[in-house]
Amino acid sequence: MASRVLFSSQFIFPANPPRETSISPFSPSRDVLSFSFQSPVDRFVAMRTGPLVRAASFAPTAAEVDASRDEPWSRKKLAVFVSGGGSNFKKIHEGCSSGLVKGDVVLLVTNKKDCGGAEFARSNGIPVLVFPKQQRESSDGLSPKELVDVLNRYSVDFVLLAGYLKLIPVELVQAFPKRILNIHPALLPAFGGKGLYGMRVHKAVLASGARYSGPTIHFVDEEYDTGRILAQSAVRVIANDTPEELAQRVLHEEHKLYVEVVAAICEERIQWREDGVPLIQSKENPHEYY
Ligand code: GRF
Repeated sequence: MASRVLFSSQFIFPANPPRETSISPFSPSRDVLSFSFQSPVDRFVAMRTGPLVRAASFAPTAAEVDASRDEPWSRKKLAVFVSGGGSNFKKIHEGCSSGLVKGDVVLLVTNKKDCGGAEFARSNGIPVLVFPKQQRESSDGLSPKELVDVLNRYSVDFVLLAGYLKLIPVELVQAFPKRILNIHPALLPAFGGKGLYGMRVHKAVLASGARYSGPTIHFVDEEYDTGRILAQSAVRVIANDTPEELAQRVLHEEHKLYVEVVAAICEERIQWREDGVPLIQSKENPHEYY
């Protein structure tokens, strides 16, 4: 039913293309707990995570150390943002644990502290941060500046939005240029923008008569769903689909596509075409981009 098509047509780049990546030179520190708890943000993190934040879970295993000898890049640190069940987050975490993704989810950020994604993070020793503040005067939740501070304290390389329903503040977009990704459950640039989320997207697709839908992964800018498209996957729309049935098939593709894309960013396999379109370098054939 779902075809493994990435919508930008596959093409071959000239041999030995200039090696330019989306990732600014970076050597993240593995020791996430090496900072001292001085500032309000430090205290916030300490309070939320407790003094023994599973430092060991971020330390490289002997196998990782061995493997990393052949790899020119370091294992990446990921912050995932969710508002709901977090099935994409769980798949990404699974990919990290299985070795498919050369990275680790070091922080989970949510605007709904009791959502399924947050529960899963807690039970897997991943610190949970609440953003944005629940109310103006509330002590629950971080301000945009505090959020950026914490992400930097944890040496986060990439921010992955996975069903996070709030607009990302400009402070974060500017602090992480070309380092924030979102997944949308339809083929952008159609069926996106403010108010088009969840089941509303699938209803709009069905009402339009479109014969294909599917997930889009894009970089995040300051608007809803307008950042550069990085990957898409096509899912056929069936004549008598309900929004729920279509949503289920698209979600199944999301899980595969997001893990594949996160693996690519962690291995620094993103290349920016001259006109600003980001491409993924094939793992099997490094001269191929899609
Ligand atoms: C997904 O459909 C995603 O495309 C959208 O929100 C949903 C999140 O689902 N942005 P889950 O929480 O990952 O299960």
